[in-house]
Amino acid sequence: MKPIRKLVIPVAGLGTRVLPATKTIPKEMLTVVDKPLIDYVVHEAYEAGIEHIILVTGRGKSAIEDYFDHAFELEAVLAEKNKTELLTSIQSDIPKAGSFSYTRQQAPLGLGHAVWCARDIIGDEPFAVSLPDEIVPSRPGFLKQMVEAYNETGGNFVAVEEVPQEETSKYGVISPTERNGKLVKMSGMVEKPDPKDAPSNLRIIGRYILQADIFNLLENQERGAGGEIQLTDSMNKLAQQQDFHACLCSGNIHDCGSKLGWLQANVKLGLENPDFGDELRNYIKNL
Ligand code: G1P
Repeated sequence: MKPIRKLVIPVAGLGTRVLPATKTIPKEMLTVVDKPLIDYVVHEAYEAGIEHIILVTGRGKSAIEDYFDHAFELEAVLAEKNKTELLTSIQSDIPKAGSFSYTRQQAPLGLGHAVWCARDIIGDEPFAVSLPDEIVPSRPGFLKQMVEAYNETGGNFVAVEEVPQEETSKYGVISPTERNGKLVKMSGMVEKPDPKDAPSNLRIIGRYILQADIFNLLENQERGAGGEIQLTDSMNKLAQQQDFHACLCSGNIHDCGSKLGWLQANVKLGLENPDFGDELRNYIKNL
């Protein structure tokens, strides 16, 4: 069984749900407490043992590439002023040379198309996908938990959580067949079903482990929900051919691609911050 070494992060989306904030900055650079969203998903990946990260990017997203590179002027000023702690903290976040790749999704054709754009860089090995909108605050990190589950069984994985039935139309939803603790076997999945047709209330969270065979399916994938090439549709075909599991996540997932979800993430993670969490709690109590 081949190990999971590479991660695809699609970052080409326009972030229309959080306009006007995202008119001139990428959605992935919105900060939660003191770090941009993309930083959370990258650190979750490192914890899971990921060695190479592929960002599927697009126009207007260059701030993301700059974030993972040296900022020479800033570093020089911090060094000159002896702000060693700050300097170390920004330098320690810079990835090893050659461990990040960037490829562009040239047209907004959907998540399936974005993942397909990474096919040459992935090659013939299983890989992970993380959607940076979603912060999954589990300990250990949820991608690590999924990689550990994959190391036991192989095959393909999605992360899922339970949602009220009426919310299923916003997500990919799985058809579960057997449940063993947090591991759920499934027969297939469907993208954005009408709640009355949803096969369950287990919705897909933006964390995946996929075999490279998905690329052949994506290559010929017809457009699905919303007129887009949906990853879920190709995963559903893959589930007819190979083992496919879901990993059940029970924590509170923050959907930072929505204004309310982003605010909630800031409050929740702000309250957990050791430097100012208590002050923030008092501030909120007194509002
Ligand atoms: C995408 C996937 C969907 C998944 C969701 C998780 O939808 O297509 O299956 O449930 O991410 O955030 P989107 O948010 O792009 O509509």
